[in-house]
Amino acid sequence: MVRLLKEILREELGEEASRAYGSFDLIGDLAIIRVPDGFQDKLEIVGNALMKLNKSIHGVWAQVGPVEGDYRIRKLMHVAGEERSITVYRESGCRFELDITSVYFSPRLAHERLRIAQLVNDGETVFNMFAGIGTFSIVMAKRKRVTVHSSEINPTAHQYMIRNIELNKVKDRVIPYLGDACDVSISLNGKINRVLMPLPERALEFFDCAIRSIGNSGWIHVYMHVPYSKGESATEAAVRSSASIPAGKVINTVIVREVGPRLLQVVHDVMI
Ligand SMILES: C[S@@+](CC[C@H](N)C(=O)[O-])C[C@H]1O[C@@H](n2cnc3c(N)ncnc32)[C@H](O)[C@@H]1O
Repeated sequence: MVRLLKEILREELGEEASRAYGSFDLIGDLAIIRVPDGFQDKLEIVGNALMKLNKSIHGVWAQVGPVEGDYRIRKLMHVAGEERSITVYRESGCRFELDITSVYFSPRLAHERLRIAQLVNDGETVFNMFAGIGTFSIVMAKRKRVTVHSSEINPTAHQYMIRNIELNKVKDRVIPYLGDACDVSISLNGKINRVLMPLPERALEFFDCAIRSIGNSGWIHVYMHVPYSKGESATEAAVRSSASIPAGKVINTVIVREVGPRLLQVVHDVMI
């Protein structure tokens, strides 16, 4: 698809085409494109080329700033097609409604969500500290007989989580909370078998609260961003980062994806 996109762009932009396009995410019927600096005036051309190539794309937005703020929202600008930011995304047999301009969401975590859902056992009580629109919680609740306490501080994401719990008929398994994960951990004190911490920039700050929610033993899945230098391989960097886990035993470390130049997203599966 990327090759075809570049061919279409070549007709419009000539030799510049190969540099004008970075990558894109497909979320429901909306695409989010990343275009390198210097090509901002070509956003509409790239957006229209994408819609021409994939008829199921009805609107194209460009990411014009980094993911930022407490709610981890990406700065988007509409560039082509329908000027609508609400869509329905499908993953692992689940449906998620969301507004791409006001909540965090990445389709690039689909594989990781499935990995976690496969690790969880029937009967577990899980705490998803940073639940967003409910993706990790709902994918696992669809597959396993679990209870997933799911906290989120962004009121809009929390509303979509409630909507998605209904859409996927997991009301008896996923319990949404609007509020800070540490505050929620107080009421869960000792009841939890497994904690998810999908907030890579800050997860370690919340580690004590994760521990508090777990009883005598359990699992914590800690997501982290790990930079690595030229002299180091990605695997070495991922393993090195396990030294910063403050308690428990790191049983497994997975490189989830590259999130920037020489910057990894890593998850440590920690046994408490
Ligand atoms: C990187 S996103 C992950 C969302 C979701 N787990 C997913 O993968 O789609 C992190 C989420 O944590 C929420 N968040 C940030 N700080 C929080 C806190 N102190 N307590 C609860 N949620 C928080 C943000 O609003 C954001 O939706």
